[in-house]
Amino acid sequence: MQQPIAILDSGVGGLTVAREVMRQLPREKIIYFGDTERTPYGPRPAEEVVRFTREIVDYLVQFGPKMIVIACNTATAVALEDIRSRLNIPVIGVINPGARAAIGRSTTGQIGVIGTEGTIRSGAYEQALRQLNPHVRVISEACPLFVPLVEQGNFRSNETREAVYQSIGHMRSYSLDTLILGCTHYPFLVDLISEVMGPQVMLISSADETAREISAILHNEGKLSRGDELPVHQFFCSGQPTMFKSIAQQWLGEQIELTPVVWQVPKIG
Ligand code: DGL
Repeated sequence: MQQPIAILDSGVGGLTVAREVMRQLPREKIIYFGDTERTPYGPRPAEEVVRFTREIVDYLVQFGPKMIVIACNTATAVALEDIRSRLNIPVIGVINPGARAAIGRSTTGQIGVIGTEGTIRSGAYEQALRQLNPHVRVISEACPLFVPLVEQGNFRSNETREAVYQSIGHMRSYSLDTLILGCTHYPFLVDLISEVMGPQVMLISSADETAREISAILHNEGKLSRGDELPVHQFFCSGQPTMFKSIAQQWLGEQIELTPVVWQVPKIG
């Protein structure tokens, strides 16, 4: 039996990471959990996000994963160390990969970060960026309107365009050359975010760099899958599955064969 990579998020956001893992590591089996019943995590107190993350990880370990990927910045910011201390398999988050990608790409060192209230409040990106380069200037902004719009599959409507302009329009005045999409839901809004920020600002999603980190860790541990068969991925969500399924198919559909995908709603909490 192939050991899967377990990926979790508060909802559909982690699919942006899952898609990149499928692209870079097509032989790896993924078990994905979206906590759509309790999304968004962004406005919740840190202790609650830690508790939810523990519950999901406890659920996912029954599948014997070889690695856990916390594909949620909000949960990474507050729960990564806690989850690491409880397991003896690699556990990675998305903040360090995102920060690394931004430092690698920025030429002026003027870096913006947008994320949920929880992520921005934690200061985790500033810390990660400054550890890599103490001279960067970091401008952070919480965008609490974005995640509910994405969870509704509302990626391009006038309402969403207005929300994006209203939330980050002012960031154009900071002469940023790089903007970190510090929430895994935000790549769904990349066209609008790019429209607002303009072509001179590079948008960084942590998905790409996170998938590279997964690959490097599995390679070092000799745990990369070698089978010839394409894996059958499994997706779980805690809430009503219709919207999750529709977004997952839109986002992943062209990239992978979706069948057979097992949809199940676990009882948690
Ligand atoms: N996608 C998540 C993140 O990266 C969580 C968004 C939320 O639930 O508020 O932060």
